[in-house]
Amino acid sequence: MPGNYQLSVDQLVVEAKEAESLGVAGIILFGLPESKDPEGSGAYDADGIVQRAIRAVKQEVDDLLVIADTCLCEYTSHGHCGHVVDGDVDNDATLDLLAQTAVSQARAGADVIAPSDMMDGRIEAIRIALDDSGFEKLPILSYAAKYASIFYGPFREAAESAPQFGDRRSYQMDPANQREAMREIQLDIDEGADIIMVKPAMPYLDVVFRAKQEFDLPIAAYQVSGEYSMIVAAARNGWLDLDRAMTESLTSIKRAGADLILTYFAKTMASRL
Ligand code: PBG
Ligand code: ZN
Repeated sequence: MPGNYQLSVDQLVVEAKEAESLGVAGIILFGLPESKDPEGSGAYDADGIVQRAIRAVKQEVDDLLVIADTCLCEYTSHGHCGHVVDGDVDNDATLDLLAQTAVSQARAGADVIAPSDMMDGRIEAIRIALDDSGFEKLPILSYAAKYASIFYGPFREAAESAPQFGDRRSYQMDPANQREAMREIQLDIDEGADIIMVKPAMPYLDVVFRAKQEFDLPIAAYQVSGEYSMIVAAARNGWLDLDRAMTESLTSIKRAGADLILTYFAKTMASRL
């Protein structure tokens, strides 16, 4: 993935300080454990890579929101976002593991918990677990409308999280469906989400727009790895002006109604604003 690297905790602190100094409001952390297992135990290890990363950034950087991506796929040997039983992701067996992950991230000092797995009922399970552990005030940013998208490819390569069998279509959404996204968002709001996210962004601007019209919560949009990589690749080939393509793409996401944008262009864009 062009210009993006796996970082150690000390490198992350340097990166986070630079982002902060450029005016980036926050970062989201994804972890790569030293070893993976079928249960994804690295995700909810009190001393896991993301837990250590959160502690380091919160300790050394003053003014940066630290969002923890809450999922299992970077930690499971099979690469799925949940607990696999007989070759299938078991939705309900996954909820407890996600709740444990969220609580361990909260204990490490995360400012926001961001579940990206798309299991049914996980917002409620995580909310209850956070409340029971004394984190009643910690907000949940739900990846509420997350499509089964080809545009995640560069991320999966960078994060070594591609599913080892099958695909994610049993839990991520069908790209053809718009109204289903509204149902998914409503369910997550009913379960206690504080911010809802649409992912990817540019191929789903209709979903961002409609979500903004229909729901009275902050709307986030995630310009994913494939969206970013397409623009960078075109620029490297001399086909597009990088700055203008970046700015126009982010402006279109904002215009559609996003209150927050997650983007790999964050540092570059912030330096232009
Ligand atoms: C899965 C997850 C995905 C991304 C981050 N976490 C999607 C997937 O692999 O199905 C993609 C992010 C990107 O492409 O930038 N929990
Ligand atoms: Zn996942």
